[in-house]
Amino acid sequence: MFRKMCCRAVLETKLLSIIFIFFLSLESCTSSEKICDQAVVERTQQKSGFHRDLITYIEWDILSSFGEHYNLLDCQLLLVEQFPSGIYIDPDQVKNEEEFGGPEVLFKESVNVEALAHHSFSSEMFVFPRIAVDSKVSIISANITIPIHLRYHEAASDAKFATVLLPPPKVLGRCTNGVAIPPNRCESDLIQAPCGAKRLSTCDWIVLKSMSKDQSQSSTSLVLQVPIGQMEHSLPIIALTVFSTMAGCVLILRNAIVTSFKI
Ligand SMILES: *[C@@H]1O[C@H](CO)[C@@H](O)[C@H](O)[C@H]1NC(C)=O
Repeated sequence: MFRKMCCRAVLETKLLSIIFIFFLSLESCTSSEKICDQAVVERTQQKSGFHRDLITYIEWDILSSFGEHYNLLDCQLLLVEQFPSGIYIDPDQVKNEEEFGGPEVLFKESVNVEALAHHSFSSEMFVFPRIAVDSKVSIISANITIPIHLRYHEAASDAKFATVLLPPPKVLGRCTNGVAIPPNRCESDLIQAPCGAKRLSTCDWIVLKSMSKDQSQSSTSLVLQVPIGQMEHSLPIIALTVFSTMAGCVLILRNAIVTSFKI
């Protein structure tokens, strides 16, 4: 009797583990299917103060979007950036950087490089990076450096820093050999976006899923701290400004009088 019960228990555990393994493999099958259209996106900032470098590293595994036998040189990446009102990019500076390997940037709106943060709006732009191709592993990558500038914020009396959140870019990919919809197992999300920085026509782009290097979904914003003016400093600053302006006037006036007497 006891023996029978024992064997039954063993049998049940065996059955349970088989069911468990079955579900586990099912799970891994479905999750392997999810490795579609995936791109590694890592974002950091360099320098401090109001003028910084935004560095975005992208790696697109073409095999996660297309089958094999794809010419990587036909592939392109596009970042759609949504910059908050507290940050701007200087179009002239970006144009200059193009000659030194910088990305091509298509601005949706004109940029006011003088406006204060609270007088500005968020702006959208398309960043076309130069890509590097590693055909051995079917990966195209881009390491993009964009000089960004933080706008001056309204002075406050309670905080020394304001926080600006830069959301992650939307990363799009495209391979231009005539196949608009990739013939693959992935149900790719396609959207229309400009084909290039200098072309006004739009193309179909695949929306890539951003992952960080450790395979977790990377959707965190970059946090930037901006120093802000202190309300209690306004009186001494006004006094100093008025004093130095008047001192300058007096100096100029004195020199003018002295030289006119000499003549
Ligand atoms: C990308 O470029 C930055 C700045 O030039 C450099 O510090 C960084 O190491 C580069 N990253 C990769 C992965 O090449």
